[in-house]
Amino acid sequence: MKKAVVYISKNGTTRDTVDQIRKRAAESIDYYDLEKSQDIPVSQYDQLYLGCGIYAGTVSKEMRKFMNNGELKNKEVTFFVHGLDSAESHRMILEHSVRDHSWMENCPMYYLGGACDLKKQNFLIRKMLKAIAKKKNLDADHMENLDQQAICDFVSRVCEDR
Ligand SMILES: Cc1cc2nc3c(=O)[nH]c(=O)nc-3n(C[C@H](O)[C@H](O)[C@H](O)COP(=O)(O)O)c2cc1C
Repeated sequence: MKKAVVYISKNGTTRDTVDQIRKRAAESIDYYDLEKSQDIPVSQYDQLYLGCGIYAGTVSKEMRKFMNNGELKNKEVTFFVHGLDSAESHRMILEHSVRDHSWMENCPMYYLGGACDLKKQNFLIRKMLKAIAKKKNLDADHMENLDQQAICDFVSRVCEDR
């Protein structure tokens, strides 16, 4: 079973999860950062793990473009998603990111929570994120609601999938 992890991480959370896979995986897994390249030989892989953060209710255009790659329909795809406020909506957000999402219905999706350094954001975004912090009862200076158990379960799945 040949595996690839394809991800994009604007603020580092998804990258940290990918690093946990790198540390634990005994076998060889290929890693693709969509920010560096979108030229991914999908046909070479049996199993793909797609990871990203949610921004303003959607995913980055690089991930949307990759998800619209018709070849994914014939693959085993598992999603892992970071967000501060999308526990209920992440499946719908991902499904709305592709033209035809029928192939995604049976794809496992791991929602892993999120983290964000407010200091790095501009005034308007800070305002929006502070509203999320209030709603989710988070400390606005250290916004973080990562689900460590879900991250651990997901990393184990990647390492153990046969
Ligand atoms: C500008 C901005 C917009 C965001 N919008 C959302 C959102 O709409 N829904 C959500 O659940 N999280 C939102 N977040 C939180 C991110 O999804 C969270 O920080 C995540 O951990 C980012 O993952 P990444 O660093 O791998 O890109 C937002 C964060 C930023 C900075």
